[in-house]
Amino acid sequence: MTARLIDGKTIAADIRQEVGEGVEELIAAGGPRPGLATVLVGENPASQTYVRMKRKVCGELGIESFGHELPADASQEEVEKLVKELNADPKVHGILVQLPLPAGLDEEAILRAIDIEKDVDGFHPVNIGRLAQKGREPLFVPCTPAGCITLLKKAGAELEGANAVVAGRSNIVGMPAALLLVKENATVTICHSRTRDLASVCREADILIAAIGRPEMIRGDWIKPGAYVIDVGINRVDDPEAKRGYRLVGDVAFDEAKEIAEAITPVPGGVGPMTIAGLMQNTLRSARRAMS
Ligand code: GUN
Repeated sequence: MTARLIDGKTIAADIRQEVGEGVEELIAAGGPRPGLATVLVGENPASQTYVRMKRKVCGELGIESFGHELPADASQEEVEKLVKELNADPKVHGILVQLPLPAGLDEEAILRAIDIEKDVDGFHPVNIGRLAQKGREPLFVPCTPAGCITLLKKAGAELEGANAVVAGRSNIVGMPAALLLVKENATVTICHSRTRDLASVCREADILIAAIGRPEMIRGDWIKPGAYVIDVGINRVDDPEAKRGYRLVGDVAFDEAKEIAEAITPVPGGVGPMTIAGLMQNTLRSARRAMS
């Protein structure tokens, strides 16, 4: 069997198009131009690339982008002061503090300083807390996990009552993905590097979200036949034949898994593009809320 490919690139392009139209409609209705402020502390090359990509897509969709860069040795007070200024700026509807922050900064305190009405990343402790509680709704949901759920639904996965396994428990992906799956009425198992038998836990999964950050760790024989597999991993592996000397692979051994799964995301072109599309959706939503 060869799995259906879940095409995140196309699905994300459709979402971006909808957001672009939504921006025009909001402005035509007398609303504000949505604005996203990015805060990049230090010079982590991957973070620089992600922020550049986010700002570029803002430009394409008519969202104003305000880029703020602080040196790696910025103090806690400096970062929090900037966040508070952005909270008070009516042109800013979303504030994104790119993670990870340099060592020594208190990430939780910085995320807590963001006005929850502008927390388009959904990482404020109140928004995460609401995500974890029954009957409570966060104002924003983290973009990568939300993208995973969108891809599952678009692929036709039945989430209600399904056995869902999330491999990885990070604050950015694994944990919020598990919480979202609970909200969808799935039966959720979170497994991680200390899990005794990862393979056998994964084999029970009707829905498998892989977010462990280890290249191709999840093998084909870990996949339950007919499962829906969402691969969040983006890992560089050396490849002398590739132009750049490396290629990108996910956390799942794609060529093996595609023979077993019902549907699977590719890397790249699966979850990756969904993160930015979700961020743009959240920024538009925030600007709409500011208008009303
Ligand atoms: N670092 C990796 N992913 C993300 C994300 O979605 N948002 C932020 N702010 N930082 C990240």
